Amino acid sequence: MLTKKQSLYSVVGKKVNRVDAYEKIVGGARYVDDLAFEDMLFAKMVCSTIPSGRIKKIDKSRALKLKGVAGVFTAEDITGLNKIGCVVDDQPLLAKDAVRFAGEPFAVVAAETREIAEEAAGLVDIEYEPLEPVLTVDDSFSEKIKVHPKGNVVCHYKVRKGDNIDEAFGKSFKVYEKTFTINYQEHLYLETQGCVALPENEGITVYGSFQCPFYVQGAVSTALGLPLAKVRILQCVVGGGFGGKEDVPSEYAAKAALLAYVLKKPVKLILDRAQDLMVSSKRHPMKMEYKVGVTKKGKINALKVRVLADSGAYTTLSTVVLFRSSVHFGGPYVIPNVSGDIIGLYTNRVPCGAYRGFGTPQVIYAMESMINIICNDLGLDPFEFRKANALKKGAASITSHKIKESCGLIETIDKARKESEYDRRKKEFDKWNADKSKRTLKGLGVSSIFYGMNLGAKGWFYDKAGSHIQICRDGSVTLCVGNVEMGQGAKTVLAQIASEALGCEIGAINFTNVDTGIVPDSGPTVASRTTVMSGNALLDAANKLRKKLVAAAAESLKIKPNQVMAKLGKYYNIKDSHQFVSFKDLAGKCYLDNVGLSEMGYYVSPKVEYDLQSGQGEPYYVYSYATAVSEVEIDKKTGEVRVNKMTCAHDIGRVINPMLASAQVEGGVAQGVGYAIMENMVSEKGHIKTLGLSTYVIPTTKDCPEVKSVFVEDKSKDGPYGAKGLGEPSLMPVVASVVNAVSNAAGHQFEHVPVLPERVWEVLSEKNSSEDESEVK
Ligand code: MTE
Ligand code: MOS
Repeated sequence: MLTKKQSLYSVVGKKVNRVDAYEKIVGGARYVDDLAFEDMLFAKMVCSTIPSGRIKKIDKSRALKLKGVAGVFTAEDITGLNKIGCVVDDQPLLAKDAVRFAGEPFAVVAAETREIAEEAAGLVDIEYEPLEPVLTVDDSFSEKIKVHPKGNVVCHYKVRKGDNIDEAFGKSFKVYEKTFTINYQEHLYLETQGCVALPENEGITVYGSFQCPFYVQGAVSTALGLPLAKVRILQCVVGGGFGGKEDVPSEYAAKAALLAYVLKKPVKLILDRAQDLMVSSKRHPMKMEYKVGVTKKGKINALKVRVLADSGAYTTLSTVVLFRSSVHFGGPYVIPNVSGDIIGLYTNRVPCGAYRGFGTPQVIYAMESMINIICNDLGLDPFEFRKANALKKGAASITSHKIKESCGLIETIDKARKESEYDRRKKEFDKWNADKSKRTLKGLGVSSIFYGMNLGAKGWFYDKAGSHIQICRDGSVTLCVGNVEMGQGAKTVLAQIASEALGCEIGAINFTNVDTGIVPDSGPTVASRTTVMSGNALLDAANKLRKKLVAAAAESLKIKPNQVMAKLGKYYNIKDSHQFVSFKDLAGKCYLDNVGLSEMGYYVSPKVEYDLQSGQGEPYYVYSYATAVSEVEIDKKTGEVRVNKMTCAHDIGRVINPMLASAQVEGGVAQGVGYAIMENMVSEKGHIKTLGLSTYVIPTTKDCPEVKSVFVEDKSKDGPYGAKGLGEPSLMPVVASVVNAVSNAAGHQFEHVPVLPERVWEVLSEKNSSEDESEVK
């Protein structure tokens, strides 16, 4: 169903097929491991086997003696600087004096074959002096042992709003307190990390599976001591990123580049699954202490939160990820009195970083669990409670950001209730659960979220994007942007935006992969920013081209430029649609008239002001919103949980492609369901034990629920055609709504994620035995 305004557009808002589908389906897409070059060497990283220790000696001699080994590199072989930290300079490219987590690379070998590289890696000898590792956030916080000389606090974000928080609780009708914990989540992109580096033009070219080619360019330049212009990064087809290929690939690319640069040969470095699981970043585990006060009228009047987040051995992106936790820990609600402390802590465990939602799914799980507890205790309707406290235009968030536009939260709450048929299902489930002969228990759970768009106050200086559009003389169009396609559908959505703006057919568009030699630094492909940032950068270039095309069309049709209308490959006379000139002919005419049809575009995210001391201000320029309802079923005998259905209502401003938007929601649901009830990364004494897909279990299609996605389109004035982002919001409400549904079915609020069958079974058994006892009495 189209609104009047939407039907004005011929490509935007339509279910256009994925422009990259065909090459992927027929196996034509070239992933980095498909690339081969003459004389190419294979690299393998050698990693620490202990979580903490001083390096006494590294001995390469046995490895170097192996036939086919071209080089063994340690910290001393680095030609530039031995540093890789993306935000803070606390991480070496190769460990030199100390290792701080099991899996930290201290050497990298290059050999003629993968097998020889593998064998050689086992022959690099290291002598350590093992140290006692810091393995929990509580131990880290006590600082009895310091992971880094400067101390264990990576970052500490504060939010202080309203009255003295203890006085505010004094005025509450009721106060609720609970501590939640949440484990790692692993990205488990199908394609593991990898790259190929080639010495070229006295510099280096790196192909790889990256989310942020410009970060890789910077890291390679630092490690090799080369100017940026001598480092060219070429994006391959990416087999999934989910945040795991944001800063992390820089570590591998810099190592491969170093080997290639010094050995003067192409070098391929692909991580196998076990090493990828061991060394690459994860979603932060957290301990989250929540205290919420509510008034008699069901309004949240006070919120106090302390979060201890396990950042692992190095800062990597913790400062950025946890900034987001500090903005979102109160959910999309109006709360007058707030005190929040979000503390990132070093441990001797794998560094944690970006993962779809950047530190928000964890705190949303805690906050939405609190709301579930409150609604159950006070007998309040979960939708009405959320609506009564919801952010809306004119209201302010916990950071006192007064919402001015594009806030469809309340509509998402209403739509989620209606589309999930919550009220009918609730009655059916109550009846089902009352029947003791049933093998299962059924439950419904709700969660609402908001999510700041783009990089916000913490990363504004990165928040730009460039584009390049070239129209060839036959009317075919080449688009270049600086953000990557990693499965989310960016190429298709951006092609739609460009096609709409240029008035060409989508089939005329040819998309190139990112090449840092062509497009200006466009920041990272993260924070669900691609549609808005690259979309606006393309609009900037397209609008310049359209002006030239309109002028040419006006000349051909002998009308004024303001009488020209462009649509789907034709430039029409607005007064007579039989009079037109084709896009192709216009391109040919401009070519012969020497009118250049090649333009750069550039876009900068709206500036925001935020005070980090008080945690008050505008952390982001606008937010996406969502509400999800989950239906679950628990097996009373085994504790196993099935998520049967999820209804997700998202406000993402203009929906550029409804089919791909639904696909993002389905993917987010799958990943969120895994996080909520299945994925259990086991780490013992600093060693990850779940180093394969047989032990780190993620949902298959059979474990995924039926997904119903609906959209609210409260347009954003700064988005291309009013769009906001969806990539991460698609996952964000899933965990909390699933856990709330399981909790409501079991009659116990689960305080740890993942909610595994063992725990559900334990809770049900305890309940049964206490019910039995009460029956006896
Ligand atoms: N969808 C697929 N299929 N593959 C991915 O790697 N990454 C997610 C999300 N959806 C991802 C995905 C993450 S973490 C982000 S930030 C956004 O996509 C990035 O894409 P966008 O900027 O186009 O929303
Ligand atoms: Mo997504 S975590 O912002 O790459």
